[in-house]
Amino acid sequence: MWAAPGHCLPLATLLLCLLLQQPGSSRAWKQHAPRLRLTYKDLLKSNSSRLLLASGDGMDFQALLMDEDRAWLMVGAKNNIFLLHLDHPNREPEKIFWPAPKEQVKHCQLAGRNVETECANFIRLLQPFNQSHVFACGTGSYQPVCAFIQLGARGKGARAPRMQLVTHSLESGRGRCPYSPHEPFTGLLLGGELYSGTSSDFMGSSAAFFRTWVHGAEPSYIRTEQNQDHWLHEPTFVGAYAIPDTYNPHDDKVYIFFRETAMEAGQWERRHIHARVARVCKNDVGGKRSLINRWSTFLKARLVCSIPGPQGTETHFDQLEDVFLLHTRDPRNPLVFGLFTVSSGVFSGSAVCIYSMAAVRAAFSGPFAHKEGFDYRWVEYKGRVPYPRPGTCPSETYDPLLQSTKDFPDELISFMRSHQLMWEPVYPQGRQPVLARVNVPYRLRRLLVHRLDTDSYDVLFLGTGGSSSARPGDTAGQLLWHSASPGAPSPDSSSRCFTDDGKVLKVALAGGASPAPEVISLEEISITKVPSPILDMKLSPKRQELFVSSTHGLLQLSLYRCELYGRTCTDCCLARDPYCTWDSKSCAPHLLTEKKRARCQDVLEADPLSQCQDTAEGTAVVEKVVFGVEKNSTFLECLARSPQSSVRWLVRRGEETAPSEVRGQGGGTRSRGGFVPRD
Ligand SMILES: *[C@@H]1O[C@H](CO)[C@@H](O)[C@H](O)[C@H]1NC(C)=O
Ligand SMILES: *[C@@H]1O[C@H](CO)[C@@H](O)[C@H](O)[C@H]1NC(C)=O
Ligand SMILES: *[C@@H]1O[C@H](CO)[C@@H](O)[C@H](O)[C@H]1NC(C)=O
Repeated sequence: MWAAPGHCLPLATLLLCLLLQQPGSSRAWKQHAPRLRLTYKDLLKSNSSRLLLASGDGMDFQALLMDEDRAWLMVGAKNNIFLLHLDHPNREPEKIFWPAPKEQVKHCQLAGRNVETECANFIRLLQPFNQSHVFACGTGSYQPVCAFIQLGARGKGARAPRMQLVTHSLESGRGRCPYSPHEPFTGLLLGGELYSGTSSDFMGSSAAFFRTWVHGAEPSYIRTEQNQDHWLHEPTFVGAYAIPDTYNPHDDKVYIFFRETAMEAGQWERRHIHARVARVCKNDVGGKRSLINRWSTFLKARLVCSIPGPQGTETHFDQLEDVFLLHTRDPRNPLVFGLFTVSSGVFSGSAVCIYSMAAVRAAFSGPFAHKEGFDYRWVEYKGRVPYPRPGTCPSETYDPLLQSTKDFPDELISFMRSHQLMWEPVYPQGRQPVLARVNVPYRLRRLLVHRLDTDSYDVLFLGTGGSSSARPGDTAGQLLWHSASPGAPSPDSSSRCFTDDGKVLKVALAGGASPAPEVISLEEISITKVPSPILDMKLSPKRQELFVSSTHGLLQLSLYRCELYGRTCTDCCLARDPYCTWDSKSCAPHLLTEKKRARCQDVLEADPLSQCQDTAEGTAVVEKVVFGVEKNSTFLECLARSPQSSVRWLVRRGEETAPSEVRGQGGGTRSRGGFVPRD
């Protein structure tokens, strides 16, 4: 089983360190422990990352925009926009310096804001406009501004595109970009119109969902009604996506994801935050006599993500943090991945729930909610529903008299003034989270999903960060994460850092988005030198890279580090990383091996070890031989890479004797990373 150490000293004691791995029991056993846990130093050693941008003073690399085909990555940061050329990693990034005017910085300081972390132009929105122009918005030191960025598309080929700010396109960013660098918001540019969910004043109150023309020429806009709590109540916007509903383009809608203080739940007791999905028709232009410049198709429903508890109770994760839309072959039916957190005095956690568009649409086709009765309770609306059904997009295809929302009958407009909320919530697939992390020392804040072409698994990349900045009054956002006192919420919660900030968790869902996929925790990587929240992530499937930004830097991270799983077939297969496979010599990335999935078969398979020859009765044994000399107390290192391994020490004295196991502290002193033989 092991080669005799022929050249060894006669008195040598041979110590064997056996790393044991338990196969097939990942579901029950140390479920959350990742196969690999890498510190920032480990990551640098692994040669699988590259620091693209760094700043000591918190540049806040908040906005990433990638063009895979044209191989560039645009980065919005404090007072700067960078353009990186992905195919020429050694080329200096192009840069636009775009600070806020001096008077405005002074203004901001006089208003009591922090000059370093608030009174600057934090670039927060980067949206593609056309082949040559990107639309950008920044906080402008509490006076938001937007402008076009031109990419010198002329002279294709080797010449670098020269990026510049189109100064004559500068215009107000009010209602498009938040005033604060920390307020979550959402912006989506579609056909020259910007859909944005943001607050629109210095105090960060009165947030709304807007649509504005970005071309200045037409000052038209449309928004949610002001000061109407049943439309929106202290909302925090998380995402907006265009999703077609039918094959009729008149039906095209924009879906908006956010959280808000729920009017229908406990107004007088503790306030409740609910996660929401809302939608509007793209062709909504508001009403004619009433609801002028207001959405006339805005409807919202609750997004439920909860774990069933004893006696029919449910633990709700209501704090929506991030949404990822996973596109499928059918553009009308992407999968919606939602990342939620919950925090209370006794309990904190994060969860991922998956929603089908069918479930979302079902809620919008169901009954409306309504406030009625002597105590103004929210109940299901049972009255007559006007024609066309509220929320329907105007289309000549359905009714030649309805060419625009201005043609909607008064009865419908009047209904739409007071009925935004649907009665039925949207439940996730399988009625529960596909992944939940409860009472862990980190908070999941960013989510990105990579579906591998086979459809049988999805890989989730989850970024950790402090509590996402809360809007004034958004108490749940500021409540106890670790042990902060609820009586004294920090005014700027996003600047709080936890030592577990700045990590990326890689988790595979075997069985893809099936109702109960198996969760395989693969990696937990610190991607920042000092803990700082992950701000944004972008995936390049073509390059097999992830781009991760934080307060202090932008890092390029390979999707896998297969060789770190170990040197044997068993190690490699047991890791069950869908990016890696055994190529008969080493654990190697799938894409780079010719025999696709030749040795380690599908991660779904019950016994991933059947094809590995180095297996011992279902237990993977990695044998590591270390030499110790008698009367020598040199530390013998044997570090189990994976937290799912356990270590056994065997000792063999002389050449002929059989090895025996070292039990207890006999023969030496055991430590986590090794063994010190007793002298
Ligand atoms: C990383 O790269 C350095 C220099 O190219 C090399 O010496 C080292 O062995 C590499 N490490 C790994 C884990 O590949
Ligand atoms: C893109 O939009 C800009 C700004 O409106 C315009 O000047 C430019 O000509 C457009 N470019 C293309 C290729 O359409
Ligand atoms: C103890 O063992 C180590 C490693 O085998 C060796 O480098 C060292 O010289 C030894 N020391 C003594 C005192 O024998």
